[in-house]
Amino acid sequence: MNQDKLKKAAAFAALAELEALAPDSLIGVGTGSTVNHFIDALASSGARIRGAVSSSEASSRRLAAHGIPLISLDEIDALPFYIDGADEIDYGFNMIKGGGGALTREKIVAAAASRFICICDASKRVATLGRFPLPVEVIPMARVQAAREIARLTGGEPRWREGFVTDNGHHILDIHGLAIDNPRALETELNQIAGTVTNGLFARRGADLLLLATAEGVQRHDRQSSATSSR
Ligand code: 5RP
Repeated sequence: MNQDKLKKAAAFAALAELEALAPDSLIGVGTGSTVNHFIDALASSGARIRGAVSSSEASSRRLAAHGIPLISLDEIDALPFYIDGADEIDYGFNMIKGGGGALTREKIVAAAASRFICICDASKRVATLGRFPLPVEVIPMARVQAAREIARLTGGEPRWREGFVTDNGHHILDIHGLAIDNPRALETELNQIAGTVTNGLFARRGADLLLLATAEGVQRHDRQSSATSSR
Protein backbone atom coordinates (compact mmCIF):
# COMPACT_ATOMS: atom_id res chain seq x y z
CA MET A 1 0.00 0.00 0.00
CA ASN A 2 1.39 3.43 -0.81
CA GLN A 3 1.91 6.12 1.83
CA ASP A 4 -1.07 8.19 0.81
CA LYS A 5 -3.42 5.20 1.11
CA LEU A 6 -2.07 4.56 4.60
CA LYS A 7 -2.64 8.21 5.53
CA LYS A 8 -6.21 7.87 4.32
CA ALA A 9 -6.73 4.69 6.35
CA ALA A 10 -5.49 6.44 9.53
CA ALA A 11 -7.79 9.39 8.80
CA PHE A 12 -10.84 7.15 8.40
CA ALA A 13 -9.98 5.32 11.61
CA ALA A 14 -10.19 8.66 13.45
CA LEU A 15 -13.84 8.95 12.47
CA ALA A 16 -14.64 5.93 14.63
CA GLU A 17 -13.16 7.74 17.64
CA LEU A 18 -15.61 10.59 17.13
CA GLU A 19 -18.52 8.23 17.76
CA ALA A 20 -17.82 8.77 21.44
CA LEU A 21 -18.64 12.46 20.97
CA ALA A 22 -21.98 13.93 21.93
CA PRO A 23 -23.76 15.38 18.89
CA ASP A 24 -22.98 19.04 18.30
CA SER A 25 -19.52 18.81 19.86
CA LEU A 26 -16.45 20.64 18.67
CA ILE A 27 -13.21 19.16 17.44
CA GLY A 28 -9.74 20.58 16.93
CA VAL A 29 -8.27 20.00 13.49
CA GLY A 30 -4.57 19.91 12.63
CA THR A 31 -2.79 20.48 9.35
CA GLY A 32 -1.22 18.40 6.59
CA SER A 33 -2.01 15.77 3.99
CA THR A 34 -3.22 13.18 6.54
CA VAL A 35 -5.52 15.74 8.12
CA ASN A 36 -6.78 16.74 4.68
CA HIS A 37 -8.00 13.15 4.30
CA PHE A 38 -9.62 13.42 7.72
CA ILE A 39 -11.42 16.66 6.84
CA ASP A 40 -12.75 15.11 3.62
CA ALA A 41 -13.82 11.94 5.46
CA LEU A 42 -15.49 13.98 8.19
CA ALA A 43 -17.43 16.00 5.63
CA SER A 44 -18.68 12.91 3.83
CA SER A 45 -19.49 10.97 7.03
CA GLY A 46 -22.48 13.00 8.08
CA ALA A 47 -21.06 13.18 11.63
CA ARG A 48 -22.90 15.84 13.59
CA ILE A 49 -20.40 18.31 14.94
CA ARG A 50 -21.00 21.94 15.87
CA GLY A 51 -17.79 23.06 14.25
CA ALA A 52 -14.02 22.86 14.17
CA VAL A 53 -11.19 24.82 15.72
CA SER A 54 -8.57 24.99 12.99
CA SER A 55 -4.79 25.07 13.34
CA SER A 56 -3.95 26.79 10.05
CA GLU A 57 -5.25 28.92 7.22
CA ALA A 58 -4.96 25.90 4.90
CA SER A 59 -7.14 23.68 7.09
CA SER A 60 -9.60 26.54 7.62
CA ARG A 61 -10.01 26.89 3.87
CA ARG A 62 -10.62 23.17 3.46
CA LEU A 63 -13.09 22.99 6.35
CA ALA A 64 -14.96 26.03 5.04
CA ALA A 65 -15.10 24.56 1.54
CA HIS A 66 -16.94 21.57 3.03
CA GLY A 67 -19.32 23.87 4.93
CA ILE A 68 -17.91 22.90 8.34
CA PRO A 69 -18.27 25.91 10.68
CA LEU A 70 -15.02 27.43 11.99
CA ILE A 71 -15.02 28.27 15.69
CA SER A 72 -12.33 30.33 17.41
CA LEU A 73 -10.70 29.20 20.65
CA ASP A 74 -12.06 32.31 22.36
CA GLU A 75 -15.61 31.11 21.86
CA ILE A 76 -15.28 27.75 23.59
CA ASP A 77 -14.94 26.28 27.06
CA ALA A 78 -13.90 22.75 26.15
CA LEU A 79 -12.48 20.84 23.22
CA PRO A 80 -12.86 17.07 23.58
CA PHE A 81 -10.56 16.02 20.71
CA TYR A 82 -7.70 17.36 18.63
CA ILE A 83 -6.85 15.37 15.52
CA ASP A 84 -3.55 15.85 13.75
CA GLY A 85 -0.73 14.09 11.94
CA ALA A 86 2.96 14.10 12.85
CA ASP A 87 6.32 14.04 11.12
CA GLU A 88 7.68 11.60 13.69
CA ILE A 89 6.24 9.91 16.77
CA ASP A 90 8.22 7.83 19.24
CA TYR A 91 7.15 5.01 21.55
CA GLY A 92 6.53 7.50 24.37
CA PHE A 93 3.94 9.37 22.24
CA ASN A 94 6.32 12.35 21.83
CA MET A 95 6.21 13.93 18.38
CA ILE A 96 8.01 16.16 15.94
CA LYS A 97 5.51 18.32 14.08
CA GLY A 98 5.66 21.39 11.87
CA GLY A 99 6.78 19.94 8.54
CA GLY A 100 3.90 21.99 7.12
CA GLY A 101 4.93 25.01 9.18
CA ALA A 102 1.75 25.14 11.30
CA LEU A 103 3.43 24.12 14.57
CA THR A 104 2.53 27.13 16.69
CA ARG A 105 -1.20 27.09 16.06
CA GLU A 106 -1.16 23.30 16.25
CA LYS A 107 0.41 23.53 19.69
CA ILE A 108 -2.14 26.09 20.82
CA VAL A 109 -5.15 24.06 19.72
CA ALA A 110 -3.63 20.81 21.03
CA ALA A 111 -3.11 22.47 24.43
CA ALA A 112 -6.80 23.28 24.62
CA ALA A 113 -7.94 19.73 23.85
CA SER A 114 -8.70 16.96 26.32
CA ARG A 115 -7.44 14.24 23.99
CA PHE A 116 -4.86 14.40 21.16
CA ILE A 117 -5.46 11.78 18.48
CA CYS A 118 -2.45 11.38 16.22
CA ILE A 119 -3.10 9.90 12.77
CA CYS A 120 -0.06 8.60 10.91
CA ASP A 121 1.24 6.11 8.43
CA ALA A 122 3.71 3.59 9.81
CA SER A 123 6.77 5.39 8.40
CA LYS A 124 6.33 8.10 11.06
CA ARG A 125 6.99 5.80 14.04
CA VAL A 126 10.58 5.98 15.25
CA ALA A 127 12.64 4.83 18.21
CA THR A 128 14.37 8.21 18.57
CA LEU A 129 13.09 11.56 17.32
CA GLY A 130 15.36 13.73 15.18
CA ARG A 131 15.90 12.20 11.78
CA PHE A 132 13.15 14.53 10.59
CA PRO A 133 14.53 18.10 10.90
CA LEU A 134 13.02 19.78 13.96
CA PRO A 135 11.20 23.01 13.04
CA VAL A 136 11.51 26.12 15.21
CA GLU A 137 9.33 29.15 14.50
CA VAL A 138 11.23 32.41 15.09
CA ILE A 139 10.50 36.10 14.86
CA PRO A 140 12.23 37.25 11.64
CA MET A 141 14.59 39.80 13.28
CA ALA A 142 15.92 37.06 15.60
CA ARG A 143 16.52 34.43 12.92
CA VAL A 144 20.32 34.62 12.58
CA GLN A 145 20.99 35.06 16.29
CA ALA A 146 18.53 32.32 17.24
CA ALA A 147 20.17 29.98 14.71
CA ARG A 148 23.55 30.51 16.39
CA GLU A 149 22.10 29.76 19.82
CA ILE A 150 20.24 26.70 18.56
CA ALA A 151 23.44 25.31 17.02
CA ARG A 152 25.31 25.88 20.28
CA LEU A 153 22.56 24.34 22.40
CA THR A 154 21.77 21.29 20.29
CA GLY A 155 24.89 20.59 18.23
CA GLY A 156 22.52 20.34 15.27
CA GLU A 157 22.46 22.41 12.11
CA PRO A 158 19.62 24.94 11.89
CA ARG A 159 18.67 25.77 8.30
CA TRP A 160 16.38 28.63 7.33
CA ARG A 161 13.27 27.41 5.45
CA GLU A 162 13.82 30.13 2.87
CA GLY A 163 10.81 31.69 1.21
CA PHE A 164 8.40 30.28 3.79
CA VAL A 165 6.40 32.57 6.10
CA THR A 166 4.12 31.07 8.74
CA ASP A 167 0.46 31.99 9.20
CA ASN A 168 1.72 34.17 12.05
CA GLY A 169 4.18 36.10 9.85
CA HIS A 170 7.29 34.38 11.20
CA HIS A 171 10.20 32.32 9.86
CA ILE A 172 11.12 28.67 10.35
CA LEU A 173 14.52 27.18 11.19
CA ASP A 174 14.72 23.41 10.61
CA ILE A 175 17.32 21.74 12.84
CA HIS A 176 19.10 18.90 11.03
CA GLY A 177 21.27 16.19 12.53
CA LEU A 178 19.59 15.62 15.90
CA ALA A 179 19.03 12.45 17.90
CA ILE A 180 16.72 13.59 20.67
CA ASP A 181 17.23 11.64 23.90
CA ASN A 182 15.08 13.86 26.08
CA PRO A 183 12.31 15.51 24.03
CA ARG A 184 10.67 17.19 27.05
CA ALA A 185 13.89 18.88 28.13
CA LEU A 186 14.82 20.00 24.62
CA GLU A 187 11.32 21.37 24.02
CA THR A 188 11.66 23.51 27.14
CA GLU A 189 15.24 24.64 26.46
CA LEU A 190 14.55 25.72 22.88
CA ASN A 191 11.67 27.85 24.14
CA GLN A 192 14.13 29.89 26.24
CA ILE A 193 16.01 31.21 23.20
CA ALA A 194 15.11 34.86 22.60
CA GLY A 195 12.98 35.35 19.53
CA THR A 196 11.72 31.77 19.51
CA VAL A 197 7.95 31.53 19.16
CA THR A 198 7.67 27.79 19.55
CA ASN A 199 9.30 24.55 18.46
CA GLY A 200 7.96 21.43 16.82
CA LEU A 201 8.54 19.08 19.74
CA PHE A 202 5.23 17.93 21.17
CA ALA A 203 6.45 16.20 24.33
CA ARG A 204 4.97 18.28 27.14
CA ARG A 205 1.67 17.79 25.34
CA GLY A 206 2.15 14.54 23.46
CA ALA A 207 -0.44 12.33 21.81
CA ASP A 208 -2.98 10.41 23.87
CA LEU A 209 -3.96 8.03 21.12
CA LEU A 210 -2.03 6.96 18.03
CA LEU A 211 -3.87 5.54 15.03
CA LEU A 212 -1.01 4.06 13.04
CA ALA A 213 -1.79 2.79 9.56
CA THR A 214 0.30 -0.21 8.50
CA ALA A 215 0.01 -2.53 5.50
CA GLU A 216 -1.73 -5.00 7.84
CA GLY A 217 -4.33 -2.54 9.14
CA VAL A 218 -4.65 0.42 11.48
CA GLN A 219 -3.14 -0.11 14.92
CA ARG A 220 -4.69 1.68 17.89
CA HIS A 221 -2.12 2.62 20.54
CA ASP A 222 -3.66 4.16 23.64
CA ARG A 223 -1.23 5.98 25.90
CA GLN A 224 -3.28 5.60 29.07
CA SER A 225 -3.91 1.93 28.87
CA SER A 226 -0.71 1.14 26.93
CA ALA A 227 -3.04 -1.12 24.99
CA THR A 228 -2.58 -1.89 21.31
CA SER A 229 -5.28 -3.25 19.04
CA SER A 230 -5.74 -3.58 15.29
CA ARG A 231 -8.66 -3.25 12.98
C1 5RP B 1 2.08 20.37 9.87
C2 5RP B 1 2.30 19.13 10.65
C3 5RP B 1 1.82 17.85 10.07
O1 5RP B 1 1.04 17.18 11.01
C4 5RP B 1 2.98 16.98 9.71
O2 5RP B 1 3.85 17.72 8.88
C5 5RP B 1 2.53 15.71 8.99
O3 5RP B 1 2.05 16.03 7.73
P1 5RP B 1 1.50 14.97 6.72
O4 5RP B 1 0.19 14.48 7.28
O5 5RP B 1 1.32 15.74 5.43
O6 5RP B 1 2.51 13.86 6.58
O7 5RP B 1 2.84 19.13 11.72
O8 5RP B 1 2.66 21.49 10.48
